[in-house]
Amino acid sequence: MNLTLRDMNNADLDSVLLIEQQVHAHPWTRGNFNDALASRYVCKVSELEGSIIGYVVLMQGVDDAELLNIGIAAAHQRQGWGGKLLQVMLAFARQLGRQRMVLEVRISNVAAIALYRSMGFVKIGLRRDYYPVENSGREDAILMGKKW
Ligand SMILES: CC(C)(COP(=O)(O)OP(=O)(O)OC[C@H]1O[C@@H](n2cnc3c(N)ncnc32)[C@H](O)[C@@H]1OP(=O)(O)O)[C@@H](O)C(=O)NCCC(=O)NCCS
Repeated sequence: MNLTLRDMNNADLDSVLLIEQQVHAHPWTRGNFNDALASRYVCKVSELEGSIIGYVVLMQGVDDAELLNIGIAAAHQRQGWGGKLLQVMLAFARQLGRQRMVLEVRISNVAAIALYRSMGFVKIGLRRDYYPVENSGREDAILMGKKW
C-alpha cells in the first residue's frame, strides 16, 4: 500500500479533527488548524487508498523547523506510517536549508518519544509543568532535536 502526501486544506479538517480527537488527550481545535493553515505553516495530510490516515504540521524558523503536530489514526498506528511521514518532513526541512528539527512532547507520551528516538532525535531540554493534565495539574515537556 502506498502512502501519499499532499498539502492540507480547509476541506480536510473534518477528517483531520476526527483523528486528532481520537489520538490526543488534549486535541487541537479546528481554530488551531485554521490558524496553522492561515499562518502558512507546512500542513500535510497523508492518504492511504484515498482516505486521510495522518497529518503533520511544521513551523519553519530561520535555522530550525519545529514539529508542531503529528497524528496517525489509531487503526493505522504501529505500521510505520508515522515514521515515514516524519522522514519526509525531515528531508523537506533539510532541502529548505533548515539546520535541525525540534519539537516538544509530553513526558508521558511513550509512543511519540520512542518514535522520535528511533529517528535520531535526542533530548535537548525539559520544560517543567508545560502541559495541562486533565484533573491533575501539569506535566513536563521534553524538548527534542535532530540535526543533520
Ligand atoms: C506518535 C505516532 C504519530 C506514531 O505513529 P505510528 O505510525 O504508530 O509510528 P510508527 O509505526 O512509524 O513507529 C515507528 C517506531 O516508533 C516507536 N513507536 C511507535 N509507537 C509506539 C508505541 N505505542 N510504543 C512504543 N514504541 C512506539 C517504535 O520504535 C516504532 O518502531 P517499531 O514499530 O518497529 O517498533 C502515533 O502514535 C500517534 O498518532 N500518536 C498520537 C498523537 C501524538 O502523540 N503525536 C505526537 C505529539 S508530540
